[in-house]
Amino acid sequence: MAYQTLIVETPDTGVTLVRLNRPEALNALNSQLLGELGQVLDAAAADETVRVIVLTGSEKAFAAGADIKEMSDKSYAQMMTSDFFTAAARKVEQFRKPIIAAVSGYALGGGCELAMMCDFIIASDTAKFGQPEINLGVAPGIGGTQRLTRFVGKSKAMDMILTARMMDAAEAERSGLVSRVVPKDKLLDEALDAARKIAGHSPLAVLMNKELVEAAYETTLTTGVALERRLFHSLFAFDDQKEGMAAFVDKRKPDFKGR
Ligand code: CAA
Repeated sequence: MAYQTLIVETPDTGVTLVRLNRPEALNALNSQLLGELGQVLDAAAADETVRVIVLTGSEKAFAAGADIKEMSDKSYAQMMTSDFFTAAARKVEQFRKPIIAAVSGYALGGGCELAMMCDFIIASDTAKFGQPEINLGVAPGIGGTQRLTRFVGKSKAMDMILTARMMDAAEAERSGLVSRVVPKDKLLDEALDAARKIAGHSPLAVLMNKELVEAAYETTLTTGVALERRLFHSLFAFDDQKEGMAAFVDKRKPDFKGR
C-alpha cells in the first residue's frame, strides 16, 4: 500500500520499519499522517509475519508535535468530535506486538507523546524531548502529562511541562525516559538490531512479556505478580517453551514456531 506521509519497509524478516515522512513540517502529526499510521498498525496486527515495528522519523525530527497549522482554527466542538488524535493514540496503545521508537532530533508535544506510547525508546545523541504545548496556550493532549510523569517523576515532568524546556538525550537516559542513547549514525542499526532480536523470539512469549510489563503500570504489585505467575505457567502449554528449553540443553539456536 502506498502512503503519502509514511515510508514503510521490511528491512528484515518479521521487522517492519515505519518512517514518519513530512519533512516540510518536521513530521508534524496531521490527520492524514495519523490516519495512515492507524492503517499501518491495523495491517501489521493482522499480518502474522510482522513480529515487531520500528517507528522513526528523520535525523532532524522524530516529530515536532501535532500539526499546529491544521489545529489552529479548530473550535472546541471540532476538536471534541474529530477524534483523530485519540483514535490514532488508541491504535498505538492497543497494538499487541512490540513497537520501538527510534528517536533522532526533535520529539516534541505529540511527537514526544507518540514516542512514549511505544514500548521503548532508543535515542540518538541528538534527540531532544519536550512538551512545549504551554507555549501555545494549551496542554499535551495524547497522554504527555500522564506518561512523562510516570517516566521521569513529578518534579522533572512539572519542570518540562510548565517551562516548556527540552530534555537532551543524556538527561532523558538518566531520567529513565529512554532505554539507550547511541551516536546518531548508529540509531537505525541499533533499533533494527533490537527488533531482529525480538523477531527471533517466540511470538507467544513476546506477547505475554509485553502484556505483563504493561500491567505493571495499570495494577497493584500483588495483582501484577499473580498475573505474571499465571502467564508464566501458561507458557508451558506451548511447543515454543519445549523448544526453547531443549535448545538451551542441546546448545543450539531455538526454532520457535509460535505455537
Ligand atoms: N506543526 C506544524 N508545522 C510545524 C510544526 C508543528 N508542530 N513544527 C514545525 N513545523 C514547520 C514550521 O512551521 C516550518 O514550516 P515553514 O518552513 O513552512 O515555516 C518547518 O516545520 C520547519 O520548522 P522551523 O523553521 O520552526 O524549524 P526550526 O529548526 O527553526 O525549529 C522547532 C524547530 C524548535 C521544533 C520548531 O519548529 C517548533 O518549535 N515547532 C513546534 C513545536 C511544538 O510546539 N510542538 C507542540 C505542538 S502541539 C501538540 O503536540 C498537541 C498535542 O499534545 C496533541
